[in-house]
Amino acid sequence: MTRRIDLLGVDEVPPGTMKMAWASATEPVLVVNVDGELRAFQGVCSHQYFELDKGFLTRDSLTCALHLSRFDLATGEALDPPAELPLARYPVLVENGRVLIEVPEGPLQVNE
Ligand code: FES
Repeated sequence: MTRRIDLLGVDEVPPGTMKMAWASATEPVLVVNVDGELRAFQGVCSHQYFELDKGFLTRDSLTCALHLSRFDLATGEALDPPAELPLARYPVLVENGRVLIEVPEGPLQVNE
């Protein structure tokens, strides 16, 4: 069983930007617009609990602002220490101008 979670409007995340959304009160999801392609990752770093929307986006990577690990925006892989685990990535759907993720029932998978 899967569930669909409505996160935010497509127009809230223009190309080259990112925005935090909440799948529930305790489940942040980072939505990133990479050249018009919307991607969704766990909202907190895989190293320590730190929200990734405070970090920096480049064309290919996201840098966590706390200890400066970079993550690959294609795979979620950690590119630099101290982070080792990849960011979980969630399948995205766009419907009626909204960004949704489709994930298994239960808590969102988060690597930490
Ligand atoms: S919390 Fe992100 S690199 Fe340490």
